[in-house]
Amino acid sequence: MLSTDSDKSGLVYICERTELAEGDSRRVEVLFRQQPDSVIVLRHLGEVRAYRNLCVHMPRTLDCEHGRVFDRRSGHLRCSMHGIAYCAETGESLSEICLGKQLTAVRVFETDSGIYFRDRRIRKPAVTQAGE
Ligand code: FES
Repeated sequence: MLSTDSDKSGLVYICERTELAEGDSRRVEVLFRQQPDSVIVLRHLGEVRAYRNLCVHMPRTLDCEHGRVFDRRSGHLRCSMHGIAYCAETGESLSEICLGKQLTAVRVFETDSGIYFRDRRIRKPAVTQAGE
């Protein structure tokens, strides 16, 4: 259910709703438990979902070989290293390798206009000034 933009405490802005259409995905740089990390945010069957960009097979990002990890037709995320397929709705591995293991889900919140992280583990990365 959507809510108004007035309740944004604890939210970390991702993008405008219109910037994540059905079948779209994007990589977002974050601090996850204070460490630089990234999250894959996608819209599938109308719902926005987000997963830490970390494969369950090996400590590699899902997009370490190429950036397209969400296949809108199959509804699966696929690790670009060895090809494990994950259910976009649950983050669960559907492949024989690591069958049943799950990506780390990150909580998101959608308002009438924007999409946000609502997860205590997530912070915005510090903005680096030119020359630092
Ligand atoms: S590192 Fe992702 S499938 Fe092997």
